[in-house]
Amino acid sequence: MGRATVDKKPVTDLFAPLDTRRFLALHGPNFSGRSYWLRFITGLETDMDGRYTSELRDRRSCAYIGPEVYNAISGLAPTVADELSIHLRGTRYADALGEMQETLGLNALRERNPVTLSGGEQAMLTMVCALGLCPLNLAIDSTIEQISAEYRPVIFQALTTDVFPFTSIALADNRLGEYDGLPETTVIPGDMGAPAPQRLLPIDPLDPDAPLPLSTTQAPNLQLKGLDFRYPDGPYVIRKMDLALTPGRVYTLTGRNGAGKSTLAKLLCGVLRPDAGRILLGDMVYDPWKSPGRLVGFHFQNPDLQLFSLCIDQEIGAGPVAQGVEATIVQDRVNALLRLFGLSRMRDIHPLETPFVIRKRIALAATIAMGCPWLILDEPTLGQDDTTSKALAAIVHRLCDQGFGMIIVSHSTMFRNLLNGTEIKMS
Ligand SMILES: Nc1ncnc2c1ncn2[C@@H]1O[C@H](COP(=O)(O)OP(=O)(O)OP(=O)(O)O)[C@@H](O)[C@H]1O
Ligand SMILES: [Mg+2]
Repeated sequence: MGRATVDKKPVTDLFAPLDTRRFLALHGPNFSGRSYWLRFITGLETDMDGRYTSELRDRRSCAYIGPEVYNAISGLAPTVADELSIHLRGTRYADALGEMQETLGLNALRERNPVTLSGGEQAMLTMVCALGLCPLNLAIDSTIEQISAEYRPVIFQALTTDVFPFTSIALADNRLGEYDGLPETTVIPGDMGAPAPQRLLPIDPLDPDAPLPLSTTQAPNLQLKGLDFRYPDGPYVIRKMDLALTPGRVYTLTGRNGAGKSTLAKLLCGVLRPDAGRILLGDMVYDPWKSPGRLVGFHFQNPDLQLFSLCIDQEIGAGPVAQGVEATIVQDRVNALLRLFGLSRMRDIHPLETPFVIRKRIALAATIAMGCPWLILDEPTLGQDDTTSKALAAIVHRLCDQGFGMIIVSHSTMFRNLLNGTEIKMS
């Protein structure tokens, strides 16, 4: 992978390369200004003087996809086919996109409602839709992190060659080091000097060694026996699944997009109810849908489904308060988790006023705060840079050592290697 280093260049200088069709990938830590710059070149942010870029000849020539792929879907289309037709009407890229839809498996999902797609399926749909608009500049911000290794080569082949000859691509992604075959990369080692709003937030790094006053009792064994599940009118997503999990080691749940990882997590925490089969905790049959989130805590792939409180500390304390945990104990947990996730100085801020990368951390802290003996964390490293991902791995190991049962869903090989867990592969 070729790399050019850019050190504190003004954002307007960086815009120039996109005048001609090219692919540019940005390396850099969280809050280095990558997202800001992508939003600036696509006309979503102004420069420090409140001006939009003068290079923005036509707002309609730019598109931006962020980590919140569900926001890029119109919400008006009842089916994937309708969603595609809205975006691809009259497109110059019809042939290339037709091929891409087939290889990414989107044709098989044409009759489905887009909001019910898996995270990765939504990400792939979003990319096809955005390309269908034939933008001159397309900014892709952390979107590929939730696309599985099976589909990534198709995406990179399309983005880095002349398949879409009128569109320049700028990509920011925390997992660039894991992807093969990216031709050109710009490294942003530190601060781009951009006036991104999130840089005004008092964010601290994660502190995986902060004291954590949570139960140290060993979680019971978790078993699945003959578990079946299908969504209404759909095929079986989970069929006769048997699993025997013991705490004290980390389990990594893997599989291509749509394999059923998030569905399994939702069955275990009680958001969904299996059609057949049993879940056992120790020797006890456990029906999680009768008391969701009591014994198996779930951190959603999409953190926004989890957040509802008016400030960050309230959000983290909401679960234990609902469980009737004593106020002083809740307060100790909240303070410890704020520190663990580098959020102490932000405790009074509204969760939805923070960027995706922080919302993910808030939702993780809120899940852990519940003190459930088993925890399932769905794509915890989405939007998180390498340093934060390493700290997250340390937190997972620590919880595991404290007796929690840990199941981690992740498309990141780097993160899974750090976890060094037992793999459960779904297909
Ligand atoms: N509400 C729903 N109705 C119908 N089908 C659904 C619904 N939710 C998910 N599915 C389908 O069930 C399958 C499994 O989805 P799930 O979200 O569990 O996949 P996943 O393994 O988590 O994928 P990803 O890696 O993309 O997150 C997918 O094909 C998905 O489209
Ligand atoms: Mg998922």
